[in-house]
Amino acid sequence: MTVSSFIAGGAGGAAKGQRVLIIGATGFIGQFIAEASLSGGRPTYLLVRSGSSNAKTIKSLQDKGAMIVYQGGMKDQESMEKILKENEIDVVISAVGGANILDQLTLVRAMKTVGTIKRFLPSEFGHDVDRADPVEPGLTMYNEKRRVRRLVEESGIPYTYICCNSIASWPYYDNTHPSEVHPPLDQFKIYGDGTVKAYFVAGSDIGKFTIKSIDDIRTLNKQVHFRPPCNYLNINELASLWEKKIGRILPRVTVTEDDLLAAAAENIIPQSIVASFTHDIFIRGCQVNFSIEGPDEVEVCELYPDESFKTVDDCFEDYVAKIDDKSIGVTANGIAAQNHVVEALPITAMCA
Ligand SMILES: NC(=O)c1ccc[n+]([C@@H]2O[C@H](COP(=O)([O-])OP(=O)(O)OC[C@H]3O[C@@H](n4cnc5c(N)ncnc54)[C@H](OP(=O)(O)O)[C@@H]3O)[C@@H](O)[C@H]2O)c1
Repeated sequence: MTVSSFIAGGAGGAAKGQRVLIIGATGFIGQFIAEASLSGGRPTYLLVRSGSSNAKTIKSLQDKGAMIVYQGGMKDQESMEKILKENEIDVVISAVGGANILDQLTLVRAMKTVGTIKRFLPSEFGHDVDRADPVEPGLTMYNEKRRVRRLVEESGIPYTYICCNSIASWPYYDNTHPSEVHPPLDQFKIYGDGTVKAYFVAGSDIGKFTIKSIDDIRTLNKQVHFRPPCNYLNINELASLWEKKIGRILPRVTVTEDDLLAAAAENIIPQSIVASFTHDIFIRGCQVNFSIEGPDEVEVCELYPDESFKTVDDCFEDYVAKIDDKSIGVTANGIAAQNHVVEALPITAMCA
């Protein structure tokens, strides 16, 4: 195990706040959390697997002040104990991917042995896994997340479960990381009748509010639900928003409940897991069919009423800019020209 420190006026030097160890910082969700931790000037340690293929991300986070702890992973309990002790870690945030959820069991045992961890955030970052009940194969992942929760609770480690709902993007039912792909330019696939609402949260806000929660006494041993009213939309509304951005109307194709169940039943991992979650969100309404009123749950907008959320509208604006930047050869005008134009909107509506 080696620790590589790089102090760039941020985490290492400022020593502001508790010492945070992030596991999975090179991943999709983990990067947002690492960025938020570093931007707040917290001492931020990243557990990076030796041989990780994400050297560019690691370097970029290191340049922002992250201290990198290279290790084989978190499955070696003795090494994990050593890392936690030597670096005097206060808070551990895990953002490991769906295939590695059970790797956290060893981490939890290490934290219990060390006995000094003030808060653990396991890899959740979606729905309340005790409440939601997706079909297989999503259910297997939830069962694994539930197992981690139970071990954390039995171990007496202080925890926070982040239930941030959907990442703000077009919710492709067959894509694990939808926000890396811009919304469709040819046709929309609408789940069911497209009227079931969900909450969409920008990755940067997932990072920001996750980090805000880690030393907030009100989130201790609680589930933190993200329900920004400005981003409470159904898929028909999402489609209309995107149409305004690109300046034209796209055809809509219905993906029925049976289609989603069939895609889930194919059991192709990870696509079928995403299909089962898509079914749970957009057919069953798993994000919206309950109220947050239990003693162990809080809602993030109520906790931080003065903080704003990035809107889906702004996120879609970013996609338009990226498409332009990447120049698949076109500007927003050009996108319209490249595809089947069903109904042209006035140019003024393009980036409204
Ligand atoms: N709300 C949403 O819309 C949404 C979307 C996607 C994911 N999620 C959830 O967010 C969480 C993170 O998923 P993700 O898709 O962001 O993951 P991901 O992109 O697959 O990244 C996984 C990260 O975990 C690291 N890792 C995996 N196993 C490890 C181990 N044993 N020891 C140390 N590091 C390990 C990987 O490191 P390497 O660089 O070495 O591979 C990588 O940095 C999951 O719980 C997932 O269900 C939510």
